[in-house]
Amino acid sequence: MPARLVIEGGAPLRGEVPVSAAKNAALPALCAALLTSEAVVLDNVPDLADVATTRRLLARLGAEIADDPDGATRVRVANVASHEAAYELVSTMRASVLVLGPLLARTGVARVALPGGCAIGVRPIDQHLKGLQKLGADIAIQSGYVEARASRLKGARITTDLVTVTGTENLMMAAALAEGTTMLENAAREPEVVDLARLLVAMGARVEGAGTERIEIEGRPELGGARHRIIPDRIEAGTLLVASAITGGDVTLTGAAPRHLTATLAKLEECGAAITVDGDRVRCQGPARPSAADVITSPFPGFPTDMQAQVMALLGVADGLSKISETIFENRFMHAAELNRMGARIETDGSTAVVRGVDAYQGAPVMATDLRASASLVLAGLAARGTTEVSRVYHLDRGYERLEVKLGALGARIRRVA
Ligand code: EPZ
Repeated sequence: MPARLVIEGGAPLRGEVPVSAAKNAALPALCAALLTSEAVVLDNVPDLADVATTRRLLARLGAEIADDPDGATRVRVANVASHEAAYELVSTMRASVLVLGPLLARTGVARVALPGGCAIGVRPIDQHLKGLQKLGADIAIQSGYVEARASRLKGARITTDLVTVTGTENLMMAAALAEGTTMLENAAREPEVVDLARLLVAMGARVEGAGTERIEIEGRPELGGARHRIIPDRIEAGTLLVASAITGGDVTLTGAAPRHLTATLAKLEECGAAITVDGDRVRCQGPARPSAADVITSPFPGFPTDMQAQVMALLGVADGLSKISETIFENRFMHAAELNRMGARIETDGSTAVVRGVDAYQGAPVMATDLRASASLVLAGLAARGTTEVSRVYHLDRGYERLEVKLGALGARIRRVA
């Protein structure tokens, strides 16, 4: 029986908690090591299932991966031993597609399984492929695999049809070894994209404009090794702040990056939380009862889709009616039905959810369907009357480092049952 979390609700959370490193910054950084034969040393890599999957994938491609005594992760791909990212790995983690750009740029050949859809949407990679074709790659889809070839990629102007985070990251990495200059237009501005650009610059590439919608990359014939520290996880941070708000608690995050959290902090204030920022510390004092608020997800610096489920849990017990518009993924309301099992009153219609706040959640057995949905069910359980049992928490472990341990340290009555 897969592990599940059992939560006795009602305890207001109190205390300080450190923020872990960002999953969505660690995964591209690990893949960037494919771009050089020298060692890339990463500090602050989180201990997550998706990181373990990425390590396994890189090892298959020829990487030597070691954990240094000081806790850093050392990755060296002296020689690429394989050009293939197999379906069996890619199907467990879509972000495996992040080996496509660096593998093709480094060796001229890449065979990467098409990720296929997932619980939150169809999630095609057409923009990744169009961008690589613009850089001169020959791309074919063969038996469920992307077959990409290029003698040497050539810099180009690429305008993606929509903002894509891993698409921007894949193309940035490919362009870092291309001949000449690439201009990425309509690029993603997420902090994880900026963090990857910082690593590529440390490896010897010239990257300008990361964090804006236009990124210029001047490729190099070769890149070198580098040491790089992964940024804090703004989504884990946001999740912990919602835990404080939904329990009427008083929690302070340490080691956070408040500038990456502006939209989330603004939404929490709109819901009645008192937010105090002091350097890398963020304090959230929850209201007696949250206020209703409308939410529209959008690319950074807008409100993150990866916080939508957690804020829906908060609005489920708010005073009044809230409307949530999910503009990034077409099927990211799976948690609504589970929250309704806990007594919420949420109606979804396509990309809109209408949330009529109730006084309190009732504890119930619920099932996680994806990473952020699992977090929202844990949050609702913290605020519920009675016992909540969240099953399929393997989803949670993909992106949260021992969340129940952190919540327990803040006073939550939560335990993992194997
Ligand atoms: C990244 O996914 C994150 N994952 C996701 O976090 C996050 O939800 C998402 O960005 C949006 O912020 C990682 O960084 C590993 P997109 P990504 O390409 O890059 C469509 C989490 O919970 N699209 O920005 O896959 C796509 O279907 C995860 O940690 C195309 O149509 O997302 C979606 O509707 C979940 N064609 C939209 O664009 C493409 O070629 C944005 O997707 C690429 C994307």
